[in-house]
Amino acid sequence: MLAKSFFLRLAATCIFLAGAAVAGAHDGRLRLTVEVEQGIPYYRLDFGDRCVLGKSRLGVALCNERGYVGDLVIASAESASCDETWQPVWGEVAQIRNHYNELLVRFLQPDSSRKLDVRFRLFDDGLGFRYEFPEQPTLHVFEMQEELTEFNLGHDYTAFCMPGDYDTSEFTYTTAPLSRLREEIPRQSAAHKSYEAKSAGDLVVQTPLMLKGANGLYVNIHEAALVDYAALELNVDDERFVLSANLMPDRNGSKGFLQAGCRSPWRTVVVSDDARDILASKLILNLNEPCAYADTSWIRPMKFAGVWWEYFIGIGRSWAYSDYSDAKPGVTDYARITPNGRHGATTDNVKRYIDFAAANGIDAVLVEGWNEGWEDWSAYTKNRHFLFDKAYPDFDVEELQHYAAERGVRIMMHHETAANAADYERQLENAFRFMADHGYNAVKTGYVGRIIPRSEYHGSQWMNNHYIHVVRRAADYGIMVNSHEAVRPTGLCRTYPNWIAQESARGTEFEAMGGNPADHTTILPFTRLMGGPMDYTPGIFQGDLSYYKEGFKHHEQAATTLARQLALYCTMYSPLQMVADLPENYARFDDAFQFIRDVAVDWDDSRYLEAEPGDYITVARRAKGTGNWFIGCTADENGHSSRLRLDFLDPGKIYVATVYADAPDAHYRSNPQAYVIRRGRVTRGSQLAIHAAPGGGYAVSIFEVSDPASLRGVKNLPTKIN
Ligand code: NOJ
Ligand code: CA
Repeated sequence: MLAKSFFLRLAATCIFLAGAAVAGAHDGRLRLTVEVEQGIPYYRLDFGDRCVLGKSRLGVALCNERGYVGDLVIASAESASCDETWQPVWGEVAQIRNHYNELLVRFLQPDSSRKLDVRFRLFDDGLGFRYEFPEQPTLHVFEMQEELTEFNLGHDYTAFCMPGDYDTSEFTYTTAPLSRLREEIPRQSAAHKSYEAKSAGDLVVQTPLMLKGANGLYVNIHEAALVDYAALELNVDDERFVLSANLMPDRNGSKGFLQAGCRSPWRTVVVSDDARDILASKLILNLNEPCAYADTSWIRPMKFAGVWWEYFIGIGRSWAYSDYSDAKPGVTDYARITPNGRHGATTDNVKRYIDFAAANGIDAVLVEGWNEGWEDWSAYTKNRHFLFDKAYPDFDVEELQHYAAERGVRIMMHHETAANAADYERQLENAFRFMADHGYNAVKTGYVGRIIPRSEYHGSQWMNNHYIHVVRRAADYGIMVNSHEAVRPTGLCRTYPNWIAQESARGTEFEAMGGNPADHTTILPFTRLMGGPMDYTPGIFQGDLSYYKEGFKHHEQAATTLARQLALYCTMYSPLQMVADLPENYARFDDAFQFIRDVAVDWDDSRYLEAEPGDYITVARRAKGTGNWFIGCTADENGHSSRLRLDFLDPGKIYVATVYADAPDAHYRSNPQAYVIRRGRVTRGSQLAIHAAPGGGYAVSIFEVSDPASLRGVKNLPTKIN
């Protein structure tokens, strides 16, 4: 035993054997201290002279065994550091720097000889740490009772969060001080459904949890590399301001079965005094393992349209081919039953979308409702819901395969599983072979409802392994996966880049099911997107659904202006972006649609220009392999005024910028479709004043000009837009 506690400083790594282990970040602002007091391990994190996390407990309690609750000493500590750069297969930037100092603290329980290692990595923008359970004579297989990990904030913070739930993250966010969450969560965090599984515990929130302190600090708590482990939620002690781990159990109450030689996911704490740094952080990706595939050439960022939004807008369109609710996939002869006449996934309708995609440079068309089983699919009591290799009679797989291929468009497969993961695993090989045989290279999966096996929740250990299993098997067939209703992401897209997007939060579909608050898209990048890209399905130009049918108003107009819908292609980073509205709505606003045609889905560089959680986000991104930039700004219900300097542009180059902004009288409630478009020359020295309306936003495309002749007649862009 070397010492009771350790202190590691990253600027000049040093370990004081007699004191604490301390690590400091390279720019010297973050400092980690690890120590043991009366047998209990603690860590502490400081940012300059501000305490981020006071003395916070570490440890693991096991079922029916002694575990790592107390009586621990530090046996040894090892330090290391890393400074490397890697290239993501797709991403917000072309290069990611992975720069940290590491402290591996080996704990020992002397009387039981049990060992537990905790590996800390301190970056300039935060901390990651995980538990490692070495193989050892006295620990073999074990069941997790609870992780004892704490995050001791020590004082009140404003939280941007949603309530704990083992099955869904499709809540609106609550914004409130931790001290008021108890009253505010029930008032603010609407869920469209909960499959019944509220978290156990007094006051529990989900991660990623975004916090803003009166001390000027922004803190984000989440996890990285959720593999073979239960997902993390946090208990909130709203008197002491201590958060503690609350792992998601299965329905039997088990929080995970493990075997020594394993490790927990990383617990992540991203910290800065500038909110933009939280959005730019690559800490969670850095803590994930490198890409698992040798060849990634088949993985391609893309835009897609889809037979999709028409199901949500109250025009009677149906996923199901018939109204025969006793239909049994694989047993019923669908060709002999009467179609309902409202089926969306017909060969002709899909062709219409393929034509639209081909005409507008959109890579793919999603088709939902193509396969047998939609007549009655939400039944938790059924053991077979869908077949994934059997199309309805009015969806001609071969004909559409050729029609799409001739036009250079891919069809995106849809596998709604109705949360029947067990049956999906049984059908998986057939399903993927069917896709590969018919030219499909991407699938949208879905897990609506209560999980089968009936022992599981959406975030329990077994399901977390299921999602990864699907993604890895998909890779064997050259298929990209966009999963809906899966556990929220933890950066695993670095390791499995064919996991091209996930939903796992409240997406655009809720504009037809109760609505999203006006500030929703100013919070998502600080929460859900910390773990990976979201299939948010932006691009809704016709947000007032009473347009389709008098009286069809699930709620008021979607809380967004049309211009903001364009901005979301930049502010909601994803290599997979839906062009979600009906083709006929894009035809009505063709000049605004030009931004969606132009915008890229893969980037060499990203600059967060302005950001404040819950208020506004403005980002500029450079399209992969080009000198062209795209800017997006999303504002909350108060709107936002930006003054932008285009100093990220190359010196000496001339660009043509097009601004798509809210009109001066635009407002998300009363005048959402009022926008202005301004075009003109800009250079690195240009400045722009642009106003985002309440619930609004703006988008800007900036194209590098290689041929000066093309500039003839193009004036300088006005510095004030609206
Ligand atoms: C929920 C998904 O989020 C949505 O996109 C899909 O259309 C429905 N499930 C049906 O699968
Ligand atoms: Ca959903």
